[in-house]
Amino acid sequence: MDIKNIIANMLTKRSPDELIATSKKSELKKTLNVFDLIVIGIGAVVGTGIFTIIGTAIQGGPEGVGAGPAIIISMVMAAVACVFSALCYSEIAAMIPVAGSAYTYTYATMGEFMAWMVGWILMLEYAIGNITVACAWTGYFVQFLKGFKHILPAFIINFPLWLRNDYRFMLSYCDKYGLDPHTQMPYLFDKIPVAINLPAIFIVLALTVLLIKGVKESTRFASVMVAVNMFMILSFIVVGAFYVKPENWVPFAPNGFEGVFMGAFLIFFAYIGFDAISTTAEETENPQRDLPIAILGTLIICTILYVCVALVLTGNVPLGHIDIQAPIAHAMRAIGKDWFAGLISIGALCALTSVLLIYQLGTTRILYAMSRDRFLPKSLRLIHKKFRTPHVLTWISGIVVIVCSLFMDLNISAELCNFGTFTSFIIICIAVLILRKSDPDRERPFKVPFCPWFPIFGILTCGGLMVYSMKFLKTSSLYFPLWLVMGVLIYATYGYTQKRLEEKKRNKNQKKFEQAGLIR
Ligand code: ALA
Repeated sequence: MDIKNIIANMLTKRSPDELIATSKKSELKKTLNVFDLIVIGIGAVVGTGIFTIIGTAIQGGPEGVGAGPAIIISMVMAAVACVFSALCYSEIAAMIPVAGSAYTYTYATMGEFMAWMVGWILMLEYAIGNITVACAWTGYFVQFLKGFKHILPAFIINFPLWLRNDYRFMLSYCDKYGLDPHTQMPYLFDKIPVAINLPAIFIVLALTVLLIKGVKESTRFASVMVAVNMFMILSFIVVGAFYVKPENWVPFAPNGFEGVFMGAFLIFFAYIGFDAISTTAEETENPQRDLPIAILGTLIICTILYVCVALVLTGNVPLGHIDIQAPIAHAMRAIGKDWFAGLISIGALCALTSVLLIYQLGTTRILYAMSRDRFLPKSLRLIHKKFRTPHVLTWISGIVVIVCSLFMDLNISAELCNFGTFTSFIIICIAVLILRKSDPDRERPFKVPFCPWFPIFGILTCGGLMVYSMKFLKTSSLYFPLWLVMGVLIYATYGYTQKRLEEKKRNKNQKKFEQAGLIR
């Protein structure tokens, strides 16, 4: 086969009409309304970023300086970068309301190969990002248990470290404190260290079972989680507002532009997730109207909340004293509200649980769309007879998170998640520009204003943040291209041939119909 042919095949696009027709045959139930979508959005967005990462973004970490009280500017910068992509997501989601998010949209604009690659990259955002959240969940769970130190026995409060961390952590912990690892964790055959993050495994398993039971049930559960964490955040803002000391806001930007920019890069993690809304397009009652409202609504609500949290946090605790691990709970302790600090860990647990739930949902729905397009084996997209959910894929996604949580470095998975998200945002902006040219007459219930400028700003802001961060993050800057190479290899050895077989079959069927038509 000649190279021209291969390239033409790789650029094969699916027309939006074909995508919509396939989705209409979908076996997934259409049960979600705009409220459910906003719950999914807030559930996916509010989590580790605002409960944990905000501390490092304000104070600085080993890899960069902090923004100080100017974090509110960083937050607005990160939100602006997201808004351009959110508008682009809204335009395409309303125009082609099918499952699969950026993956499906790329298929309609850039062809088969790029679509597969985007799906593969999205796995970084959803599945790999979830590893970070699952492990952060353990951290808050431990905090939560500590709140019951007067009621629960000590062996529960201080359960062994090897049952709540991965073996890499255990080895570096032993190294740091000069301990013999053999005394700190069991060894299999005296050679293989055993350390498992039990709470993370437990929560992922529980959510996998819940997701198999059904999307409606899962979003109902997410609504409860979102309600609890919203209540906690709002109470933090209201209670903390009475203790704000404006002198803590001075100096406003101790590290100048660099601090604000690094803060924007870090806090970007807190906004990731609103795109998860578009992965459920096929399960939405009125996708054309509801998707744009939900995507933009989520972003606006979260930005307002984040800025208020940041103002209260930096107003309550002097710079230099802000905690890195649990900054919000610590701020309440700093103003003498210990009991409230305990409640905050419940809010954080709820927030992380809903992020996990929605990300698992997103992972399976993207994989479902990819399997339907033959990039992955058909057996994976089996639908559960009773619950009508893709149970095989749901199990696989759960097991991947569990297995990776046994050995994967948390920071690296978070950085990889950021890279995946930046890339998918950039691709969505490009897709809008292409579709405006290639399909100008298609009905667009929602249009990005000031096109082509807004999509171009989206590409520049996300690209800028990505390139800037690569200067500092050496390991993940190496892993990211490796992940891409792995994607290319899977496509070359499986996806490409499967797509050609599918094409052959389709052509044969078409010929049969034509002949039947002639005979008749
Ligand atoms: N935005 C999500 C979080 O902060 C990823 O946990």
